[in-house]
Amino acid sequence: MSATPSESERAAVDEFLGAPSSGWAGGARSELDHHVALGGYHGAVETRHLLLPALQAVQGAIGWVSPGALNYVCERLSVPPAEAHGVASFYALLALEKRPPRVAHVCEDVSCRTRGGRELLAALSGRDDVVPSPCLGQCDRSPAVLLQRAGEPDLSLWGATPQNVIALLAGAPLIDPAPGHYGIPQSEYGSEQLRLLSRVGVVDPYSLDDYRAAGGYAGLARALEMGPKSIIEEVKRSGIRGRGGAAFPMGIKWEAVAGTSSERLLVCNADEAEPGTFKDRGLMEGDPFSLVESMTIAGYAIGASRSYLYIRGEYPRAARHVAGAIEDAKAAGLLGENVLGSGFNFDIEIRMGGGAYICGEETALFNSIEGYRGEPRQKPPFPTEAGLFGLPTIVNNVETLINLPLILLEGGDAYASLGTAESTGIKLFCMSGDIALPGVYEVEFGTTLRQLIEMAGGPIEDIAATLLGGVAGSFVGPDLLDLPLTFEDTKAAGVSLGTAVVMPFGVSTDFEDLAMRIAAFFRDESCGQCVPCRVGTVRQEEALHRIFAGAPLDGVAGEFELLSEINDAMRLGSICGLGHTAGSAIRSLMELGLIGGTP
Ligand SMILES: Cc1cc2nc3c(=O)[nH]c(=O)nc-3n(C[C@H](O)[C@H](O)[C@H](O)COP(=O)(O)O)c2cc1C
Ligand code: SF4
Ligand code: FES
Repeated sequence: MSATPSESERAAVDEFLGAPSSGWAGGARSELDHHVALGGYHGAVETRHLLLPALQAVQGAIGWVSPGALNYVCERLSVPPAEAHGVASFYALLALEKRPPRVAHVCEDVSCRTRGGRELLAALSGRDDVVPSPCLGQCDRSPAVLLQRAGEPDLSLWGATPQNVIALLAGAPLIDPAPGHYGIPQSEYGSEQLRLLSRVGVVDPYSLDDYRAAGGYAGLARALEMGPKSIIEEVKRSGIRGRGGAAFPMGIKWEAVAGTSSERLLVCNADEAEPGTFKDRGLMEGDPFSLVESMTIAGYAIGASRSYLYIRGEYPRAARHVAGAIEDAKAAGLLGENVLGSGFNFDIEIRMGGGAYICGEETALFNSIEGYRGEPRQKPPFPTEAGLFGLPTIVNNVETLINLPLILLEGGDAYASLGTAESTGIKLFCMSGDIALPGVYEVEFGTTLRQLIEMAGGPIEDIAATLLGGVAGSFVGPDLLDLPLTFEDTKAAGVSLGTAVVMPFGVSTDFEDLAMRIAAFFRDESCGQCVPCRVGTVRQEEALHRIFAGAPLDGVAGEFELLSEINDAMRLGSICGLGHTAGSAIRSLMELGLIGGTP
């Protein structure tokens, strides 16, 4: 394969970066932030941060990252080819081998595999344009498929059948499979109880007028009246904690950068790759202006004029909707220079992920934006001291941010009066698995697991165990069905709310198959940077394989002991949360006696 770029390979890169002769001004990135002349964590300057978007542009245009195109990107961005290859090979959505122009990524993860995913993959087996995929964030409509298409926008498909996947692969025209589907059950659209989801499925996500008529932008107006200090005070009073999994108090994090004198940045984390999680997708698809408004409020409060929205690559529709909202908000003076005549300037730049779960970890996300492999950084320094491009950075999850208008309009105390003392406010839960009505459900903290499952239409068969918090969380038995879903109650029960995944599995579930899938997920997604996680995730999978193949090395009890030791090594010795939690779901299945028989 030639490493000399062909005309079409050059054209694909030039279309994105601008023709070499025209400097940086001519390409799709005409507002190029090559002015990001910041040293960053790695000390590299200026253009390196364009590496991933440039590779994505090549992938989108010609269907793979050919050696010629890779070399031309390197030439244009002054990045050594070996480095760029290291980055390109990190991301599952970038192909370094030539492949068909349309490829279907078929979800084989925890929810889909028990609900038609395995059968779909079997029906499509042997095709070179079908690849198995980790969770695509559409667990409510299994089986889920993402179609990557050279020269055309990517397409999410849910409730897929072999027939429609084959037709789309053959080039059948795009029919948006469910234009009115945003993750929440249609029966919930417009329900009076909803606050965060009140507009989802009700407003046209492309209409700023609709958004404003439904109360949109009242929060920003209030914020500009209040001023940054009072906003942070109100956020602290609300007691809100982050919804991205780590549950850190939002106001305390914000205060840490508000006191710094240098430029600071806001990053909204919309990577959402934890299997079973799809709430942020629903918010961005169904109510994109609310994220734009909320990010603007956050930027104003912390004193940031630039922000990045990192959306997982598997969410093309969410990215389209938010990009449209950003454009419309700018045209209406609600974003950009001098927001609503206040003198405050604020911009949002969308960056797409490349198919790597670890890039949801905030420091891995910084490296990804900066054009490096998405490997987590050692902390300290914490992002609030030295984050993206080495600047103080606030990272917040989509759902966390979307609470802001509510907190400002109703007051921090009113928000804190909802939920419990330690888990204040309202929460979105992602319900899938063996339940009648999968979807995102909005409740106050303190609602029990049983109540949530009932809201979602109840189980479709007797529940053997429920996966709580995602595959980084754990399975809980029916004895915990009355557990109030709060940070404190889950902690006391030795489990975690994580990303608010609630996935019940019935008594006929093959838990050994699920355990193998979870082990394979962590083995695949470990970035490989630190030994306990890189080796531990492989050893964990091997031990399970031996047990389930009926060939344990030292009896099942011996393998269980080994698995416990591996889990401890990963939990205690890994750099980041992926390693810390890579053994927890499997350990919980062992403790519940759902795998391995009697040790
Ligand atoms: C392996 C891993 C994956 C993560 N993925 C996400 C994610 O997809 N979205 C997210 O908001 N937070 C994710 N986080 C948590 C982030 O590091 C960070 O805590 C969060 O974005 C902060 O926002 P919040 O305070 O609003 O929750 C992940 C953490 C780890 C360890
Ligand atoms: S714990 Fe795993 S994912 Fe995290 S840095 Fe180490 S190897 Fe990478
Ligand atoms: S989309 Fe398949 S498990 Fe989430």
